[in-house]
Amino acid sequence: MRAASAPGKAILLGEHFVVHGTGALLCAIGRRARVTCSGGTAGAVRVRSAYGDEEVPAASAISSVTAHHRPVVQVAREAGGGLDVSVESDIPAGVGLGSSSACCVAAAGAILGGAAAGAPAAIAAALRAERTVFAAASGADTAACAAGGVIAFSGGSHEACEAPPRASLVVASTGRAHTTADVVASVRRRAESDAARFGSLCERVAGLVDDARAALRSGDLVALGRHMAENQECLAGIGVSDAGLDRLVRAASATSYGAKLTGAGRGGCVIALVDASNAARTLKAVRGAGAEAFESEMGARGLGA
Ligand code: PMV
Repeated sequence: MRAASAPGKAILLGEHFVVHGTGALLCAIGRRARVTCSGGTAGAVRVRSAYGDEEVPAASAISSVTAHHRPVVQVAREAGGGLDVSVESDIPAGVGLGSSSACCVAAAGAILGGAAAGAPAAIAAALRAERTVFAAASGADTAACAAGGVIAFSGGSHEACEAPPRASLVVASTGRAHTTADVVASVRRRAESDAARFGSLCERVAGLVDDARAALRSGDLVALGRHMAENQECLAGIGVSDAGLDRLVRAASATSYGAKLTGAGRGGCVIALVDASNAARTLKAVRGAGAEAFESEMGARGLGA
């Protein structure tokens, strides 16, 4: 039996724009997916998860596998199949917290073994798996779930950044799941129909990501929160925020250093940058606005046991 776990993630700045070549800042959060695997029927892959118990014969097309299980089956097939795989996760699914990426990364770690742990091989295998369900994935999520900590992602690779020691995130969910591929496709249509405006928003976000990295280096939470709030304006400008997200951003902005949606938007979650001075008030504010919320460390450990 082999096992591995990987954290979920939050995008601090840069979602959507990263699909169009801009950099992004991400951190691993304190919720994890765990994958265990052991030998099974030759050639077949059996997956047990919250979505069911599915045995996939070697001859089945990957497209016929339940979407939630497809990435895990992809990783297992790359290892030759003949595996029973179990997936457990406490990462809320479909709300922009990297539940799918964390499963792909943990599957790569468990199935491919120690050689892939934390290494580019695990990220590459996890991204191939993720792209069986979301072909346009930028790779930012898989990199954050594999590397852990806080990362700057750009052009398909990433660098570790300083995690501010006192900072944490309040994560507030609208409770509405989104389909990332649909939201990404609608942003692409918008980018194509008004390339000049979209291009200037990309430049603005690229500048904000650079400024936010500088704020991380100096541990300046006020500046980091301001850049996150400005990023939220850009996300609203491409139509991915909605009334429910706006309400949570407003509630969290009153008490935190800055708040924004995280992930694809149109449902999903808001994150607010906090420390010990304002975390409890911010949690109360977003719960008062109707969110399910929790506080998370900013920069949990990446792929591991
Ligand atoms: O799937 P989500 O909600 O975690 O969002 C992923 C982030 C996007 O930038 C929208 C897509 C991507 O591949 O980077």
